[in-house]
Amino acid sequence: MSTFRGQISLDGPSGTGKSSVARAVAARLGASYLDTGAMYRAATVAVLDAGVDPEDADAVARVVAAARIEVGTTAGTELVRVDGVDVAKRIRGAEVTRVVSPVSAVPAVRRQLVDQQRSLVAEADAVVVEGRDIGTVVLPEATLKIYLTAAPEVRAQRRAGQLGIRDAAEVAELTKDLRRRDEYDSSRADSPLRPAADAVIVDSTKLDRRAVVDRVVALAESAVGAGERS
Ligand code: DC
Repeated sequence: MSTFRGQISLDGPSGTGKSSVARAVAARLGASYLDTGAMYRAATVAVLDAGVDPEDADAVARVVAAARIEVGTTAGTELVRVDGVDVAKRIRGAEVTRVVSPVSAVPAVRRQLVDQQRSLVAEADAVVVEGRDIGTVVLPEATLKIYLTAAPEVRAQRRAGQLGIRDAAEVAELTKDLRRRDEYDSSRADSPLRPAADAVIVDSTKLDRRAVVDRVVALAESAVGAGERS
């Protein structure tokens, strides 16, 4: 078992395989795992169920402030609840994916969820935290910061593989959708998607998951501040 102690931030755009890399790294290091995207997705479920316009920032902020959002921090399980209801499957659906960007752009929503993220992280000796603004905003003092990226066409291909899509026109549509979300997440005023100045940029265009996981684990094990080694 690794002796890594500290926080690893794993940021980057959609479709880079970030989640599976983050989970595998956490498992290898015996660390906790926090999926902050799941929290924005859970907030989006609350917004959809309240029937308010996702583009109405005030209404969105009000609904999310009143919602009880719970996420687990164990790499092997996916616990996501809104007001006690299990939404782990629903947060991955198209309805949520379509409107999560405007919900996650609301500053009051971000403040609330960032506070919650910091509290969850404070409870762990070793943790891998996945998102868009972890190295820049949530944990600026993280032990190791990784920014995982890949060419949009490759990301769309991988996503298509997961969804079982083969049709070229549908893959092109996925690529367009990824670019649109990247553009939205990178250009929003509050906490845009960008690498922290001290992040290690890992481009997975030509690397398979195993190679990316090995690279991040090696970086973690040699990270400054990685704690006592026995
Ligand atoms: O990683 P994901 O696809 O589950 O994230 C869902 C959305 O939430 C994505 O459009 C960007 C947003 N998000 C964010 O703004 N900040 C984070 N730390 C994590 C996700």
